[in-house]
Amino acid sequence: MEQFHHPRPVCTGCHDQLRPTPERQFLMTGLSGTVLEIGAGDGVKLACYPPSVDEIILVEPDAFLRAAAARTAAPVPVLILDGDLDRLPVPDASCESVVCSLVLCCASRPERTLAEIRRVLRPGGQLRFYEHQRSASPILAFAEGLAKPLWSRAAGGCHPARDTVSTVDGAGFVIERLDRFTFRRVCHVLGSARPRR
Ligand SMILES: C[S@@+](CC[C@H](N)C(=O)[O-])C[C@H]1O[C@@H](n2cnc3c(N)ncnc32)[C@H](O)[C@@H]1O
Repeated sequence: MEQFHHPRPVCTGCHDQLRPTPERQFLMTGLSGTVLEIGAGDGVKLACYPPSVDEIILVEPDAFLRAAAARTAAPVPVLILDGDLDRLPVPDASCESVVCSLVLCCASRPERTLAEIRRVLRPGGQLRFYEHQRSASPILAFAEGLAKPLWSRAAGGCHPARDTVSTVDGAGFVIERLDRFTFRRVCHVLGSARPRR
């Protein structure tokens, strides 16, 4: 699982002037209370959380990545848990926000993961996501589908051609903000959503 160590740019600048990339900034800005980050990887984003957060709970099944996260400095208390996307190890309605960064593309059952996210969110809580998204261009989407078997093997089960936006919507979320962008020519989405009442 070492390939997930720093898979994406998280900060820009240098030395003591590091700041989150605009995408990571959006993912974390304005969060407060208890935040659950699932498939958290090595915790490299911990430094991007604002001080308005009371507690960060990281869920990560890989022991190497959990150990790396435990060594990472954070501005607020962090609890690191072993756990699976199919059954998140936190009680119902216990989190103000859930952060998903390149995780729904790895979930074996993204609908199940999104149902779990709904379960753990408090009323009024929100999902922040930064995920792969199938391209709107039919040619690129076809190419993503062709690349998927090899890509998936090389990248820990990642599915680059998933229609993440439709899956989030279909799982009962209202998408409140959505930005589409490409990173290394691969389509991504960055957004926030709340459970539909
Ligand atoms: C592409 S990495 C993203 C890591 C991190 N969120 C980031 O943005 O850098 C996917 C993460 O999902 C985790 N993951 C994969 N399958 C999972 C599962 N069934 N349950 C929980 N986490 C899982 C992996 O261990 C890995 O940390």
